[in-house]
Amino acid sequence: MRSPKDFFKPLAVGAPAPRHEIPFRPSRMIHFFPASNEKMRGKAQDMATKVDVLLANLEDGVPAGDKEAARAGLVEVATSVDFGETQFWTRVNSLDSPWGLDDLTAAVLDAGDALDVIMIPKVEGPEDIHYVDRLLAQLEAKAGLTEPLMVHAILETARGVANVEEICLASPRMQGLSLGPADLAANRRMKTTRVGGGHPDYVVRQDPDPDDEHADRPIYQQDLWHYTIARMVDACVTAGILPYYGPFGDIADGVACEDQFRNAYLLGCVGAWSLHPSQIEIAKRVFSPRPADVAHAQRVIEAMGDGTGAIMLDGKMEDDASTKQCQVVVALARELAARDPELAESYGFAS
Ligand code: GLV
Ligand code: MG
Repeated sequence: MRSPKDFFKPLAVGAPAPRHEIPFRPSRMIHFFPASNEKMRGKAQDMATKVDVLLANLEDGVPAGDKEAARAGLVEVATSVDFGETQFWTRVNSLDSPWGLDDLTAAVLDAGDALDVIMIPKVEGPEDIHYVDRLLAQLEAKAGLTEPLMVHAILETARGVANVEEICLASPRMQGLSLGPADLAANRRMKTTRVGGGHPDYVVRQDPDPDDEHADRPIYQQDLWHYTIARMVDACVTAGILPYYGPFGDIADGVACEDQFRNAYLLGCVGAWSLHPSQIEIAKRVFSPRPADVAHAQRVIEAMGDGTGAIMLDGKMEDDASTKQCQVVVALARELAARDPELAESYGFAS
């Protein structure tokens, strides 16, 4: 048992008070760089001017022998880069790894002033978040931090998906969730061998032609991730936190990447990971509402007056519910435009 009154009390003496709301800050792309890589660290200052979120990766993708170097690299970037309005995140190693504890310790004690969010991979249930929550409070108190760090969990095990609502509600620190399609596929024993995206064998086939048994029967490729993304979005919205699509590994296939990102956007996600500079522009394009959609949404809102009742506009029925959808689009456009003058101009928002 726990009194609701205690939920917003710090979990360690001297730790900052937990947040009551997760701030919405543009995070259309979470741009990953391996923190162990000196060349990539050298580009961090420039990248910080190009992305919404820059993430120092310590986990998968960093070889076991480079884990200490990655941790030191995180601290180097945290203490040398001017992030401006850009968020700085890190992905630590998983809680069952030999590196997770040292990663969390260094992230808070040596990089905590610069960090906004710590991404925890392979979260299986609320107990993982409770562990991180208490540990971060202890470390924040030690470091004298005045703002609580936020936590982002990757949904990449079957048990994590089964417990997704409880994970989202486990702590006021929870900022959001990302889908981790690569680890999730392995954990579920799916028979794919890719990092995100579809699969040519996951299809539905058109019914046979009753008049021609030899007629071609077209197949339609289906989205392997629809169920998980939709479930993740519902869990996040229930908890007042933000859902993201994760990685798309086929860097050369920008078209399919854009499709996967757009499906996630339409289902309610606010962003996706970028693993390569080419994916930054894709994420920016997809997760910013199109100017034509914003113009249409503004027209509906204006025509609906106080937002109640029903009208016909261009032959379509608009009512309270369609107006609310339009308000979501316009609110997002305004939030993004506030820090992007080019976008503001494309929407026709006065500066
Ligand atoms: C990301 O970490 C994934 O496993 O897809
Ligand atoms: Mg993973």
